[in-house]
Amino acid sequence: MSTVLIKDIGQYKDDKVTLKGWLYNRRSSGKIQFLIIRDGTGFIQAVMVQSEVSAQDWELAAGITQESSVEIAGTVREDKRSPLGYELAVESIAIIHQAEEYPISLKEHGVDFLLDHRHLWLRTPRQVAIMHIRNTVVKALRDWLDSEGFTLIDAPIMTPAACEGTTTLFETEYFGDKAYLSQSGQLYMEAAAMALGRVYCFGPTFRAEKSKTRRHLIEFWMMEPEMAFVDHEENMAMQEAMVKYVVKAVLEKHPADLKLLERDTAKLEAVLARPFAKMSYDAAIEYLQSQGHEIQWGDDFGAPDETALANLHDGPVFIEHFPAAIKAFYMKPVPERPEVVLAADLLAPEGYGEIIGGSQRIDDLDLLLRRIQEHKLPQEAFEWYLDLRRYGSVPHSGFGIGLERFISWICGLSHLREAIPFPRLLNRIYP
Ligand code: 4AD
Ligand code: MG
Repeated sequence: MSTVLIKDIGQYKDDKVTLKGWLYNRRSSGKIQFLIIRDGTGFIQAVMVQSEVSAQDWELAAGITQESSVEIAGTVREDKRSPLGYELAVESIAIIHQAEEYPISLKEHGVDFLLDHRHLWLRTPRQVAIMHIRNTVVKALRDWLDSEGFTLIDAPIMTPAACEGTTTLFETEYFGDKAYLSQSGQLYMEAAAMALGRVYCFGPTFRAEKSKTRRHLIEFWMMEPEMAFVDHEENMAMQEAMVKYVVKAVLEKHPADLKLLERDTAKLEAVLARPFAKMSYDAAIEYLQSQGHEIQWGDDFGAPDETALANLHDGPVFIEHFPAAIKAFYMKPVPERPEVVLAADLLAPEGYGEIIGGSQRIDDLDLLLRRIQEHKLPQEAFEWYLDLRRYGSVPHSGFGIGLERFISWICGLSHLREAIPFPRLLNRIYP
C-alpha cells in the first residue's frame, strides 16, 4: 500500500492507499464519521463507516482534534459530488500527533488575530491556494525570462547607496560604515546587462514606507529584468508579453484555486484578449481633472487616481512620460521634451494600482552626473555605476514587477498581506 498525495488521488481509483496529513475538520452522523484530511496538496473527505473499521479505530477517530496529524488508509472511490471528484473509504487510522486545542476555528476571525497566527493561518484552504498560485507566478515569470534569453543575476541585499530615493531606506551598520537594505537590484542589473545582455534579479526588497495601505509591504519581492540595446517602447512590449504569459499560466494551472478564491476569471481572460492600453501622463492628468480629482500636473498619482485610470481603460494600462521631477534619478528624458522621462508604470485593472515600474535609463555620463548631484546623492557611492557610462555605454531599459501586487491582482485579494507567506507590515514583524 503506497503513500500518495491528495493531488494525485485520481490515479488511484479503486486502489488501497495511505495518506499522511492533518485533520482539517470532522463531522459525524451516528454510524459514519466524515474526516476532512489535508496534506498540503489538497483536501479530501475520508469516510469512516463504523461497521467497516475496528472498534479501536472508530474510537480514535471520534476523539481526534482539529489539526492533529494522521496516517489514514483506505480505498479511493470516485465521488462526483465532491470538489476533488474522489473520496477515501477508510479502513484504518493512526494518530501521529494529537493536537492541542487549535486557536483557529473554522468560523470567521479578525485579521489582527489571523496575522498574529500567520504560521497557522497558512494552513487554511484559501491561504494554501494563494501560495500555490504564488509558486506558479514565480515559475511562469522565470520560464518566460528563460525562454527570452535572460540570465538570472542575484543582486546584493546590503548596499552602500539608495536606488529609489532616500526617504524609504532601511539603514544598518556595516563594520563602522552605513549600509542600507536594498530597495531594488536595478543598478546592479544595469552593470550585469552590460556583461550579459539580458539579465534579471529576483529577491526581497525593502522600503521603510510609513504607509499603512493595502498596497504596501515593508518587505516585498521584486523581479527586475534589464536589457541592453532595448528602448522604452520595446521595454513596454516585453512587459505586456510577460504579464500575459503569467496570467495565462495561472488560468490554465489553477482553475480550482481561483474558484476557491471566488476570482472572476472572465476578467483575467479579458486581459489576454487585447493589447494593453497606453496613455500619457499629460492625458491622464487632464482626464483626472475632468473627473473632479484634486490633482495638478507634476503630482504623483494616489490610489484613487490609479483606480480611475485603470477603470477608464477596463484593463491594464501603461501610463508613460512622467515628469522627471517625481521619478527616480536614472530615468532618461524624452529627447525633445526633457521635463518628462521615458518611463511607464503599468496599472492593473480593478483598482490594483501600479504593478510594474519601468524606464529607459540615462546612458550619457554628463547627464547622469548632473542628476546624481540634483538628487543630492553621494557621488562616491555611484562611481561604479557611472563607469557603465564610461565604458561602452548603450541604450538600455528595464523594469521591476512587484510580486505581491501582481499576485493580489491575479487572485483578487483585498490586501497584499495574504500574497506573501510572512508579511512585514508597518508595526508588525511577528511572526
Ligand atoms: O516603481 P518601483 O519603485 O521601481 C523600482 O524599484 C525600479 N528600480 C524597478 C526597475 O526599473 N528595475 O517598484 C517597482 C514595483 C512597483 O510597481 C510595485 O509593484 C512594487 O515594485 N512595489 C511594492 N510592492 C509592495 N510594497 C511596496 N512598498 C512596494 N513598492 C513598490
Ligand atoms: Mg513606481
